[in-house]
Amino acid sequence: MSSSAERVMNMETDEMKTADFHYLRSAIWSLTGITLSDSKKQLIQARLRSRVQALGLGSYSDYSSLLQRLPPDHPEWQEFTNSLTTNKTDWFREPSHFDFLVKEFIPRWKPLAPKGHLSVWSAACSTGEEPYTLAMILSDAQNNRNIRSYRILATDIDTGVLHRAKKGIYHKTALSQVPQTFHKSSFTPGSGDISHLMKVQSDLKQNIDFRQYNLTQTPCPWTDEFDVIFCRNVFIYFSKDVIAGVLDTLYRAAAKDAVLFIGHSESLQGASKWRYIGPSIYSKGRVL
Ligand SMILES: C[S@@+](CC[C@H](N)C(=O)[O-])C[C@H]1O[C@@H](n2cnc3c(N)ncnc32)[C@H](O)[C@@H]1O
Repeated sequence: MSSSAERVMNMETDEMKTADFHYLRSAIWSLTGITLSDSKKQLIQARLRSRVQALGLGSYSDYSSLLQRLPPDHPEWQEFTNSLTTNKTDWFREPSHFDFLVKEFIPRWKPLAPKGHLSVWSAACSTGEEPYTLAMILSDAQNNRNIRSYRILATDIDTGVLHRAKKGIYHKTALSQVPQTFHKSSFTPGSGDISHLMKVQSDLKQNIDFRQYNLTQTPCPWTDEFDVIFCRNVFIYFSKDVIAGVLDTLYRAAAKDAVLFIGHSESLQGASKWRYIGPSIYSKGRVL
């Protein structure tokens, strides 16, 4: 058997050593704020297997030793980060938030915003379903003259998902949660060999800026900027201290009357300047 085939065989049976697991989880924590408990060892192992194989290494220990020798700006750190993020998302996920935005927030924000321009941040946007859902909803609000214009900043730490989000190409079968009314107005269907794919239309895309941003990075480049912040289903991976730091960042980045949406299963875990409005919805100012 060739040595590379042997290495692949070894990887399938290789158990990550406890010391390597501890090093790798502390490295991902320093880079992203993501906390991985002891029960996540199998998960880390499964997710890093392809990195170890792609680099032609024989074990997780080799990978861990390699990382320990690399300078902080080496591209493998980004690959490592991309491998360990969880990117589960969906179209119109937790739909009550979009209803609240259109039916409760915008009507009260409108009289306080003479320019009618809504600035939105999707702060852990994954593969793009969340910011594109927002773009559909807000284009509708624009057509109904509830807002004059809008712009969405969509950020994530994972460059792999950002690349897919920017492309805006999705499998037709993945769009089951998108209401039929938006199918025609928001997507262009592929033809021939790619008839199973749908592409987000450019008039929606042009309202979104996709950028890499680490939520634990300080100082945050934005101040008093966003009327609406979606930071959903990422706090579940963070400790209480990390959440507190990110909430401060979001508060500073928020405009004075902003609203913040977090995931339905998440909580702010204690003191924060954000004011509770209802389950998973918080406010900075006077609007709500
Ligand atoms: C489960 S997805 C949530 C996607 C979307 N917000 C939703 O609710 O459907 C969590 C996302 O958070 C991103 N993430 C994790 N840590 C991050 C950090 N420190 N800064 C920015 N994004 C982060 C991950 O890459 C992942 O795409």
